[in-house]
Amino acid sequence: MKLIKRTLLGLIALVVLLVAVVYGVSESRLRRTYAVAGATHLRVTTEPAQVARGRHLVTAVAKCVDCHEQDMGGKTFIDAGPLGTIYASNVTAGQGGVLAVYTDAQLEAAIRHGVRPNGRGLFIMPSDEYQNLSDDDVSAVIAYLRTLSPVDRRHGTSHLGPLGRALYTAGKLPLVPAERIDHARTGARSAPPVGATREYGQYLVSVGGCRGCHGPNLVGGPSPEPGAPPAANITPAGPIGQWTEAQFFTAIRTGTRPDGSKILEFMPWKSMARHTDDELRAIWLYLQTVPPVQSAKT
Ligand code: HEC
Ligand code: HEC
Repeated sequence: MKLIKRTLLGLIALVVLLVAVVYGVSESRLRRTYAVAGATHLRVTTEPAQVARGRHLVTAVAKCVDCHEQDMGGKTFIDAGPLGTIYASNVTAGQGGVLAVYTDAQLEAAIRHGVRPNGRGLFIMPSDEYQNLSDDDVSAVIAYLRTLSPVDRRHGTSHLGPLGRALYTAGKLPLVPAERIDHARTGARSAPPVGATREYGQYLVSVGGCRGCHGPNLVGGPSPEPGAPPAANITPAGPIGQWTEAQFFTAIRTGTRPDGSKILEFMPWKSMARHTDDELRAIWLYLQTVPPVQSAKT
């Protein structure tokens, strides 16, 4: 009896210790702050052409609206009990929004660095990809955000649950893009000219979030989002290697594959459908030139 009691107490002590370690390690990582070098190349105006470019980036290319809602007022992004709760912020000037308080440089730090004004790393915000946005394009995004109608919508504070903390501590949850970004980078960032070229397609894929779901070499695999289906292999070794350009356009514009099956909406084809013909052609040209990689057999 005494032995059982002692073993039980020992086990409880071990669990408590483990929880404390996970909490301590995750907390110190989450409290890390990042010094952002500061954007010296921004040029934010109210010129209609710049605002229109910004709108296109926000709604089609960078797909901000998929997480922050069409009105950019934000939403509960993930409410997964023990994993945690994450809110996509209200990025308008309404109540609960950040636009009225953040400077252009602070918005740039959130978008290209994934860093809040207090220096902490944002959760989930795909800045590992948005860091590739050119100075002109990040300026256009900010110019457009400044024109949005204020939305009054307050959200709670994003936080991790015990399971989320354990996975994060174990390196199984790529939660904080700021951990992977070079914040000392200050040089000018440019993009290839807009057009139906492979180079521009490469740029669109690098800022379009494709790699966040389809993986660094676009070979697909498990999605980062809990409950989402695996992302397809979109290298020429995947099914897409058998498609024509016209079939690719139909797939993105209507969510229908050549065999008539539907692409699930975990794939943001509805936002991608807003790409111009030149942009879809550019993406198509680029995807045909990435190294073909076979999907891992499971
Ligand atoms: C995959 C989902 C996702 C996409 C796409 C996305 N965001 Fe976010 N964003 C988030 C989440 C989640 C947060 C809040 C993170 C947190 O609470 O730690 C956030 C935070 C922000 C913040 C910081 C606000 C604050 O509370 O400090 C800004 C600004 C922002 N996003 C702008 C954008 C813009 C502009 C785009 C497109 C270029 C974009 N986001 C695309 C998920 C996303
Ligand atoms: C939020 C995650 C996410 C993002 C971002 C994303 N995809 Fe996908 N994509 C998926 C998922 C998941 C599937 C598989 C959907 C299904 O099973 O129906 C998919 C399927 C596809 C398909 C259909 C392939 C096939 O064989 O059925 C194409 C083409 C595609 N994605 C291209 C892209 C491109 C290009 C980008 C970037 C501009 C992109 N995706 C961005 C998650 C994503």
